[in-house]
Amino acid sequence: MSYEQLVFPENSTFLVTGGAGFIGSNIVEALLKKDMNVRVLDNLSTGHIENIKPFMDNPRFTFIQEDIRDLDSCMKATENVDFVCHEAAWGSVPRSIEMPLLYEEINIRGTLNMMEASRQNGVKRFAYACSSSVYGDSTKLPKRESEEGNALSPYALTKQTNERYGRLYKKLYGLNTYGLSYFNVFGRRQDPNGAYAAVIPKFIKQLLNGERPTINGDGRQSRDFTYIDNVIEGNLRACLASEDAAGEMYNIGAGGREYLIDVYHDICDALGVFVEPVFGPTRAGDIRDSNADISKARANLGYDPSYDFKAGIALAIEWYKQNL
Ligand SMILES: NC(=O)c1ccc[n+]([C@@H]2O[C@H](COP(=O)([O-])OP(=O)(O)OC[C@H]3O[C@@H](n4cnc5c(N)ncnc54)[C@H](O)[C@@H]3O)[C@@H](O)[C@H]2O)c1
Repeated sequence: MSYEQLVFPENSTFLVTGGAGFIGSNIVEALLKKDMNVRVLDNLSTGHIENIKPFMDNPRFTFIQEDIRDLDSCMKATENVDFVCHEAAWGSVPRSIEMPLLYEEINIRGTLNMMEASRQNGVKRFAYACSSSVYGDSTKLPKRESEEGNALSPYALTKQTNERYGRLYKKLYGLNTYGLSYFNVFGRRQDPNGAYAAVIPKFIKQLLNGERPTINGDGRQSRDFTYIDNVIEGNLRACLASEDAAGEMYNIGAGGREYLIDVYHDICDALGVFVEPVFGPTRAGDIRDSNADISKARANLGYDPSYDFKAGIALAIEWYKQNL
């Protein structure tokens, strides 16, 4: 069953933090299609107002331009909210290596503010974005929730810390938290611009512009690239999950593994171009291989991803061709 068929109690209110970003705006869109009331809390630091412009006229939609580092803003935003999908954070491993203090403030303190506000306001379910980067230096494949390694970047450490608070908030205060470790998400509205852009939108944009993309390393690093609709599904399933499944982490991936060089060639083929890539240095903080074991999310959340990499990349490329 895809997430389109999932049913929430009528008139439920959701708060999506980071709702002007790539993942958040896609969750917002899916919820509005279900006639839910949706609030977005976003400071527009890495997100874009264009991502939520189409929802502004919807009477069920409210945009709050505030910062999750401010507890009062989190308290106000969570008043009378049933479900929270907490997506606001700063992403990018290399950027976190350049500015660790800022990552601590936004990703750790901001998430703690959101958990605290949600607990005080009696939020029923708190789904929050974690990351496959929490597996750090563990070389075991596939990645299982109980087998995390040491963090390789400040970003990964912030996500590991979020997880620990997520467990603690369930245990100490009964807040139903669900940590969702996303594995390299891609799809419509992912930002292709800037030094810290993710590889898939970056490659597509560069190839469409006739530029020559750079692959960091030898291209033989692998990732479980996950289409955005699978991540929407993970969030919606977590908001409907049992209380027994709370206080836990869940891998939200497609369950596959693609080598970066093959992804590059797939994109070239789909665009009908071939440009030899430049091979650059390996990036500090990057993990070599990644592949999600999704059996825990399947068993406890009923997560059943509808899109494998091939189906997702075809849709993503089509979207960028229309929208870049
Ligand atoms: N995209 C991926 O592949 C991926 C993988 C693993 C985890 N994640 C996590 O998923 C979440 C969403 O990522 P995304 O790819 O949509 O990124 P994004 O940058 O597109 O979205 C993040 C949003 O959060 C907002 N934000 C940032 N700091 C804020 C603050 N202090 N207060 C309020 N809003 C703030 C930004 O303006 C932006 O709209 C993040 O927590 C990220 O770490 C993403």
